[in-house]
Amino acid sequence: RKSELESRSKEPGLKNDLIIRAARGEETERAPVWVMRQAGRYLPEFRALREKHEFFECCRTPELAAEITLQPIRRYSGLLDAAIIFSDILVIPQAMGLEVEMLPARGPHFPNPLNEPSDMSRLSKKVDVQKELGYVYEAIKLTKQGLDGEVPLIGFCGAPWTLMAYMVEGGGSKTFEKAKRWLFKYPEESKELLQRVADLCVEFLVGQVKAGAQLVQVFDSWAGELSPHDFRTFSLPYLKYIASGVRDSLSCTSCKSVPMIVFAKGALGHSLPDIAKAGYDVVGLDWTVEPAVARHIVQQAAPGVVFNKKAAGAEAGHRVALQGNMDPAVLYAGKTAIEREVERLCRAKKGGFGGSGAWIANLGHGITPGVDPEMLGHFLKTLKRVSSEVAGA
Ligand code: CP3
Repeated sequence: RKSELESRSKEPGLKNDLIIRAARGEETERAPVWVMRQAGRYLPEFRALREKHEFFECCRTPELAAEITLQPIRRYSGLLDAAIIFSDILVIPQAMGLEVEMLPARGPHFPNPLNEPSDMSRLSKKVDVQKELGYVYEAIKLTKQGLDGEVPLIGFCGAPWTLMAYMVEGGGSKTFEKAKRWLFKYPEESKELLQRVADLCVEFLVGQVKAGAQLVQVFDSWAGELSPHDFRTFSLPYLKYIASGVRDSLSCTSCKSVPMIVFAKGALGHSLPDIAKAGYDVVGLDWTVEPAVARHIVQQAAPGVVFNKKAAGAEAGHRVALQGNMDPAVLYAGKTAIEREVERLCRAKKGGFGGSGAWIANLGHGITPGVDPEMLGHFLKTLKRVSSEVAGA
């Protein structure tokens, strides 16, 4: 039984498969941990590289992307249980033909966003994903060599609604007036755009898995900007489409299915039961949800087989795992606060995740540029210690 399980979850040469097992709903000896945006501006070694290379040049140059991906793995040697490929969610709009630049201190900017549905004619009709985004696949292959089985590599893409929001707003926004105007004024055209993006998401994620990604995450960072009804109309159907599309496509190839993570930031308060049933192995939580409450809701909505070692993959009905969800701002508050909040995160009696597995520890959103790298190290160490205690209790 065990060797069969191992051959299913552990690819040859992979030395640490904790995150894969947790993603499949299994009990683990401690919680695996990684951090959204772990390769980023809070790291001096990243900033040094960025002084010499423009942001999208880093994404498009496989050697640079691989190097940046490995930076946190090296710095926090033995403390991170996954790497995430260095790239950006906005590479899909670029592949569709939209120009995107990264402005210092202002973030992403589209010089020519989609103002009206007629502007969709500016998007490529048939995107050659291999040609446009093959550099990500190359970066994944190089990174895998560099990792040498140390930890699994996560691939990712942006969710259709979040990408549409950028394509129409032309950048970040406080109100999302332009993108929402599309939803309310042109619902059918919006759905057409969302569907076109969703098809690319499927192809891009499948390509990343074929290149060697061992898990994939879909980032719906702006899900929380939508009302419950609009989330169910303009976001959730496409999240479901991506999960089933990726699984169908991978089942037709010699590639194994990989665990899929969905992070619909801000939508969990109203739609956690729906998100738990969207076809993902793991549901990412932001910090506005109490872990023990989320666990209960997800178990009710998507019971699967409550901890069944025979199950392997969401299709087989394992319980849905959770990821998250400490407020990234805790990392600014010093070691005592970090320890207190990690205790709260881990211990069921404090409303935390508890020791029954099916949990991937992470922050509730990306780590921010002002964090002292030493404080992330302290978070990782504390998390490892406390979650081992809790799992062993
Ligand atoms: O997690 C990782 O370490 C992998 C790399 C990664 C980046 N962006 C690198 C990046 C990932 C997974 C992303 C996803 C991404 N990009 C999201 C979803 C996650 C989230 O935070 O909600 C979004 C919304 C974007 C779009 C984006 N890219 C924004 C809004 C910004 C600017 C502001 C910011 O938060 O940093 C970026 C730029 C970006 N993407 C940087 C990095 C390291 C910093 C840019 C720089 O070096 O100047």
